[in-house]
Amino acid sequence: MLLSMVAFGKTLYVGTNAEFAPFEYLEKGKVTGFDMELMNALAKEMKMDVKIENMAFDGLLPALQMKKVDVVIAGMTETPERKKAVSFTKPYFKAKQVIITKKGKDIKDFKELSGKKVGVMLGFTGDAVVSDIKGVKVQRFDATYSAVMALEKGKVDAVVADSEPAKKYIASYKDLAIASAKAEEEDYAIAVRKNDKALLDNLNKALVKVKSNGTYDALLKKYFK
Ligand code: ARG
Repeated sequence: MLLSMVAFGKTLYVGTNAEFAPFEYLEKGKVTGFDMELMNALAKEMKMDVKIENMAFDGLLPALQMKKVDVVIAGMTETPERKKAVSFTKPYFKAKQVIITKKGKDIKDFKELSGKKVGVMLGFTGDAVVSDIKGVKVQRFDATYSAVMALEKGKVDAVVADSEPAKKYIASYKDLAIASAKAEEEDYAIAVRKNDKALLDNLNKALVKVKSNGTYDALLKKYFK
């Protein structure tokens, strides 16, 4: 008998896009990463069982609204636009957009991207940041690794991506670096449907709990040391 399963109540369907290390990525065919471990810890507090649904990033909020999943955790930045469609928990991580360039070609300000070919990921916040800069030739990719490969091959001059995944990506390319330009800080938060007030409250309570009992800090240490 699976006695341990009996203790759990409902299943929480969690949507993510596992192409965003160290937050979510595939390891031996399994979705893992900071967000996944955080989600498991939160679910444990809520006495719920987690079922992960891995999908394209731009399909996440539609899947939430169509009740294919109950929550979305995907290194997703809380934006005014997204808040029109869904609700977000209290933020759980602070991030920034950064510019990846060839080594020795530093960029000190995002405005300097004007006139350059810049790779972004379709629908990521970096897409909006870059699209707002006048005169940029935006090239949209469906995954960070293809944008970084285009940069490596000289097909784009720079790639704008979230700070932590960017660090991961450049680690495997000796001739790429993160430029010194600074972008505004963004908050990652967990999305739920607008009318799911009880779930939102429970997630926020669970967040407070995992932050005070050391679980959250242990995860920070594990993934961002
Ligand atoms: N923070 C960015 C955004 O909210 C990128 C998130 C991408 N996450 C992912 N799991 N692919 O748009």
